[in-house]
Amino acid sequence: MMSSPPPSAQCLDGKALAAQWQADTKQTVDRLRHTGIVPALRVIQVGEVAASSVYVRRKAQVAQALGIDSDIVHLPADVSHETLSDVIVGLNNDSAIHAILLQLPLPSHLNPLVYQALTDPKKDVDGFHPMNLGRLLAGDTPYALPCTPWGCIGLLEAYNLSIAGKHAVVIGRSNIVGKPMAHLLLQRQATVTLCHSKTVGLPALVRQADIVVAAVGVPELVRGDWIKPGAVVIDVGINRTNQVTLVGDVAFEEAQTVAGWITPVPGGVGPLTIATLMRNTVALCQQQVQG
Ligand code: GUN
Repeated sequence: MMSSPPPSAQCLDGKALAAQWQADTKQTVDRLRHTGIVPALRVIQVGEVAASSVYVRRKAQVAQALGIDSDIVHLPADVSHETLSDVIVGLNNDSAIHAILLQLPLPSHLNPLVYQALTDPKKDVDGFHPMNLGRLLAGDTPYALPCTPWGCIGLLEAYNLSIAGKHAVVIGRSNIVGKPMAHLLLQRQATVTLCHSKTVGLPALVRQADIVVAAVGVPELVRGDWIKPGAVVIDVGINRTNQVTLVGDVAFEEAQTVAGWITPVPGGVGPLTIATLMRNTVALCQQQVQG
């Protein structure tokens, strides 16, 4: 007798959802343009980290396709504190610019927290300014929410996957993804465990999770036998194992035979981050011009 194939998780199609969000954003941009308002995004890139160059170019391309005025402000890797500060303050004071993104990581002589705090919170498209993060923590409304976690929440909501009362295990405590993700899940009444590189017994914790969010940047760290049957698995990792192959933080082939829902890499969270950035840009523009 032939054995039946292992059960397979449903894919959470971030690419399709991102396309839908982008179409909605384009409609909003078109409406704004008819009233003479052009949402404007400036992306600051310091140095030449290869992955950053790819992301920054992609952000600019998508922005342009949606009718958003976008440009990259490229600064050398040895740029001084004074010059970077002047660039940020200049954009803060330019009323034609609505959204500022400082691409991370920065070279080691520049502390990102300094420049995130210098960015006008009303133009902080990443939601990384202390005021925006503080509002997130307090349950108040930030001007913008961090793009990747906000995209992940949108993905869960688009598929009607409930969060309240669920045990969510977030792996990775970065300011970009892990910490804001944990708070967004907590706000939606999940029980949240935030794991990191010093966590003892990670596999056993992940096995308890109804929702797993992996954002550590370790290729295929999360194995199939760490996944609780039927769990929702969101893989934020984008790891290049060689020049061409992208793998996530989750061993996809293994995990998809156990999970209920899973994001692919690529085509899962990545496109949502960019689509959320576009939504945030337009929302900041609307807040600034319409009050
Ligand atoms: N580097 C990787 N992801 C991000 C992000 O979401 N925002 C910024 N500013 N830099 C990043």
